[in-house]
Amino acid sequence: MSRLTVVAYTFGVLFFLVSCAFSVFYGYKVMSHDLPEEGNEIKGYNYHFVLVPEELDNDYWRLVEKGAQEAAKEYGVLLEYAGPKQANIDEHLKTIEMSMASKVDGIITQGLSDEQFTPLINRVVERVPVITIDTDASNSNRMSYIGTDNYYSGYLAGKALIEDTKGQANVAIITGSFYANHQQLRVQGFRDAVMSEQGIKIITMEESEISRVRAAEKAYQILKDYPEVNAFYGTSALDGIGIAQVVEKYKKTDQVYIIGFDNLPETLDYLSKGTIKATIVQEPYEMGYRAVQMMIDLIEGKTVPPVVHTNTRVLRAADLPVSHLGGREAGY
Ligand code: BGC
Repeated sequence: MSRLTVVAYTFGVLFFLVSCAFSVFYGYKVMSHDLPEEGNEIKGYNYHFVLVPEELDNDYWRLVEKGAQEAAKEYGVLLEYAGPKQANIDEHLKTIEMSMASKVDGIITQGLSDEQFTPLINRVVERVPVITIDTDASNSNRMSYIGTDNYYSGYLAGKALIEDTKGQANVAIITGSFYANHQQLRVQGFRDAVMSEQGIKIITMEESEISRVRAAEKAYQILKDYPEVNAFYGTSALDGIGIAQVVEKYKKTDQVYIIGFDNLPETLDYLSKGTIKATIVQEPYEMGYRAVQMMIDLIEGKTVPPVVHTNTRVLRAADLPVSHLGGREAGY
C-alpha cells in the first residue's frame, strides 16, 4: 500500500467513526429529549437521581421537583427531572427503563398501576433503588413510598362534603384516571365516607386523563346529562379547576358544590371566590424534598420506613389568609 493510500484510508476510517459518533449522539438527543444522562459521566456530585413525574409541566409536579431540587442542592446530588410532557403511561415507563439503563443511583417515581408498574419496578429494583412518590405500587418491591395516604385523603373529602352539604347532595366524580392506584383510592375513601349517608348519592363518574380541559368537558357533559347533579368531587389537581371553569361559565356557582384536590394558585383563586368550596391539600414540596433524603439514606445503608405519609388536610375559603380573600372581597 502506498503512503498516500494509507493516509486516505486512515482519514476515511476516522471520518466514518466521527460520523457514527455524531449520529449516535444526536439520535440519542432526539429520541430522548427529556431522558436521563449516563450516570458515570456525572462529575462533582455524590449521587445521580432521576425524578419521573406523571407530567413534566404540571404545576403540582413542579412543586415536587422544587422540593427535590432543594434537597439535591443541599446534599450534592444531581437530580434530573424527566418524563412525559403530558400524562402518558408508555412514556412514563420508558423513562424509568432508560433511567435504569443510564445507571443512575436512584429512581423516584409514581407507582401508577399494578399491572404496568409493578413488574417494571421489580425488574429495576434489582439494579437501582426505587422510591415511589405520590402514588404507591404497594405490591411491588419498591424500597419505600413517600406521599399522601390516598385512601385517607378521599375519606377526608367525603367527610368534608357531608359537612358542607349537610348530608344532601347528588355527586358527580371527575377522576384523573380510572386505572391509577391513587385515584382509585381517593374514590374508594370518598365512597366509604359517604356510604352510610342516605342523602348523598353518587350519580356518575368520569375521567379527566389529568387534563383540565378534559375535566371541563366532562363537567359540562355531566351538567347536561344529569341535571340533578349539584356537587362535584375532583380527585386530581386540575379536575377542580376544570369543573370550576364550567360551573362559573354557566352561572351555577350558587347551586353547585365543588370539592377538589391540591392548592395550586388557580384553585386558591376559585376557593377565595367561593366557586370551589373545599380542597384537599397535599404536600408535594415536602414529598420531593424527603424522597431525596430517603434515597440517600437507603444508598448509605440506613433504615428507611417502607411507608412515609405526608400530611393531608381540608382547606376552605375561611382558612385562607386575608391576602387570598381579595377576590371575594372585590366581589368577582
Ligand atoms: C396527584 C398527582 C397528579 C396531579 C395531576 C395530584 O392531585 O397527586 O398524582 O399527577 O394531581 O394534576
